Amino acid sequence: MSTFLENQNWRYATKKFDSTKKITTEDLNTLKEAIRLSSSSYGLQLYKVFIVENPELRAKIQPAAWGQSQIVDASHLLVFANHTTVTDEHIDSYLKNVAETRDIPQTALSGYGDFMKSGIGAKSEDEKAIWTSKQTYLALANLLNAAAELKIDVTPMEGFDPTQVNEILGFTKLGLNASLIAPIGYRSEDDATQHLKKVRKSNEDLFITL
Ligand SMILES: Cc1cc2nc3c(=O)[nH]c(=O)nc-3n(C[C@H](O)[C@H](O)[C@H](O)COP(=O)(O)O)c2cc1C
Repeated sequence: MSTFLENQNWRYATKKFDSTKKITTEDLNTLKEAIRLSSSSYGLQLYKVFIVENPELRAKIQPAAWGQSQIVDASHLLVFANHTTVTDEHIDSYLKNVAETRDIPQTALSGYGDFMKSGIGAKSEDEKAIWTSKQTYLALANLLNAAAELKIDVTPMEGFDPTQVNEILGFTKLGLNASLIAPIGYRSEDDATQHLKKVRKSNEDLFITL
């Protein structure tokens, strides 16, 4: 079996973390880089990722996340927050980055910029927010895969009240919305769910060859 698939079988949505074990700075940096390198639509990366270290903030978030213990017990708590709208400034800032990174004049990118602006501008505000939140799921997937390679556990979480989390972390005034939470760290030996067999659809049920 490929190492990638072995890691996929090893990982699981951890229900109980060992609160005494901490991720090293080096591993955290690797996970951050995996998130940073994630693919996103047009490459715009219309989200921020908050690493919540403050235990008081984590204690405040826990009741807003169905009381899930991972919020306070994991080594680190990541909150993915999508931009609730998309402005021309977001696109211009991306184009500036492309121009500087690839050493090309920004004027050479203005046609592409107009193309993005008109396509994205045609979306309703709701559609923009849904579209930006979708990008955070790709970043989450990269986090899950990179963490599994490092034998670091992650619980992907939608089980929280975004309104409350936005309030606790002050997201609304920043034009952000909490889309996903990911506690990361090391599984507790007591977490019985680590021994459960994976439940997945069969190939026949999942794949359709045309
Ligand atoms: C977007 C998303 C949201 C999830 N939300 C939660 C959650 O709030 N709490 C939790 O314990 N598990 C959560 N899960 C974990 C899933 O239930 C789990 O990934 C799924 O049952 C497959 O099991 P496995 O990841 O352990 O292989 C979530 C998973 C995803 C992808």
